[in-house]
This record gives sequence, C-alpha cells and structure tokens, in this order.
Amino acid sequence: MVDHAYLENFKYKHRNPYHEKLTEFSEFVMRDEEAEVHKGKWNSDVFKRDARLVVEVGTGYGHFMREYCENNPDVNFVGMDYRFKRSYELCKKLERLKIDNYRYLRAKGERISFLFEDGEVDTLLYFFPDPWPKKRHNKKRLFQAPFLQSAYQVLKPGGRMFIKTDHDAYYEWMCEVLKDQDQFTISMQTADLWNEQQDHFLASFQTKFEKIFLKQGINIKGFELISKKGSH
Ligand SMILES: C[S@@+](CC[C@H](N)C(=O)[O-])C[C@H]1O[C@@H](n2cnc3c(N)ncnc32)[C@H](O)[C@@H]1O
Repeated sequence: MVDHAYLENFKYKHRNPYHEKLTEFSEFVMRDEEAEVHKGKWNSDVFKRDARLVVEVGTGYGHFMREYCENNPDVNFVGMDYRFKRSYELCKKLERLKIDNYRYLRAKGERISFLFEDGEVDTLLYFFPDPWPKKRHNKKRLFQAPFLQSAYQVLKPGGRMFIKTDHDAYYEWMCEVLKDQDQFTISMQTADLWNEQQDHFLASFQTKFEKIFLKQGINIKGFELISKKGSH
C-alpha cells in the first residue's frame, strides 16, 4: 500500500499549536503545502541565485544544517522535518544565523517530488531516519521504493544521495531495498563509517543524534548513492 503522502491530492491534516507559531519565522520557514508552489523555481524565485541545491530530509534539531550552511555559503539549502515542536526549536536557532542560503520546511520527506522539479536537486541528505524497529511498523520506514523513485526523479543526472544510520536492522533493510532497484549506483557503502571511511564526506561531521550513538559505542552505517539518470 502506497503511503497517501505520495499522492498528488494529499493534504496535510493536523492540529498543533506549533504549526501556527512557526509563522513567527515566515522569512525562512514554509509549512505544509506552502512550499510546493516553488517546485522548479527554488533557485530563481526563492534564493534568487544560481547555486547547487542541497536538500536534507529529517533535519531534526538542525545542527548539521546550521553548520553546513555557514561553512558552504555557495550552496542553496532546503532542510525539512515533520515534527512541530522540534521545528519550532530549530527555527529559534536559525533566526540568529547571519546567513540567507537556507529555507526550512515543516513538511514530509514523502513530498519531495511535489516540492522539487525533475532534476532540480543536486544532493539529497538523509541522516539517522526513524528506524521504526517493530515489525508491524517497518512499512513506515521512509527508505523504500516510493521514496527512492521520488529521489531519482528530483535529483539531477549524477546527483548524489548521502545516508547515515545507527540502526543495524534498518541498514540491512536499506541493503535489500538497494538490491531491488536500478536507479542508483552505490559508490560507497559501509557498516562502520568512522573506522572504514574516515576520508569520506560522511565522516566530516557528526549530527546531534550521531554523537549520542557514538557515545553508546554504536557503529555508524552509511551509503553514498549516485543517480544513474541519463546513463541507462
Ligand atoms: C533520529 S532524528 C535525526 C535528526 C538529525 N538528522 C540528526 O541526525 O541529528 C530523525 C528525524 O527525522 C524526522 N523524520 C522522520 N521521518 C520523516 C519524514 N517522513 N519526513 C520528514 N522528517 C522526518 C523526525 O521528525 C526526526 O526529527
């Protein structure tokens, strides 16, 4: 069964006080469907400059987003997460940044193909997705065929997706999902990032959740995927 958030006529439905409070940050935050009008026009209409478009799903408290945007002023960055209070806490911190190369969406990762035009995105980032460990909840995992199809659609030919996870079973799940697809080449795969791939981009930073997992002695797993678009 396809999650209805992938469907054209999907509408966000919720009642959450933080949804309204997010309007305090309307300079850089968009909520729910608001951002979908910018599909295909992020660089020209939103950022008003040509630059690499980097999109992060599951931004969380935004430690990576803030550091990355400050260190990479030449990149246009869109972060997104669907948790309300967490989004609000993040926006309070974003407000203090002295940079303008990012936007934040209170939105679902399932909507990327409604948020971005085919081939609009250079890089997709997805760090420590919720693992949904119980068998009956596995179907809620974002990393499965419909998401990969959407990622393939929005990425440019040769565009990259970077993933990290702490969770062994989700990592195995991702390996299985990747076996069944022909949209991405796996250019890097590791079950122990910090011992096996110290020179890789994924080992150039630690997210908030990653620090916690590393303290617990958990090996970080990860992938770099390259879109095969244009090479079939
Ligand atoms: C474990 S946290 C990791 C946060 C951050 N990436 C980090 O590493 O510190 C996972 C985040 O993904 C968000 N998330 C999970 N599923 C999502 C979805 N389908 N769309 C958007 N965000 C999602 C959750 O709300 C949560 O903030």
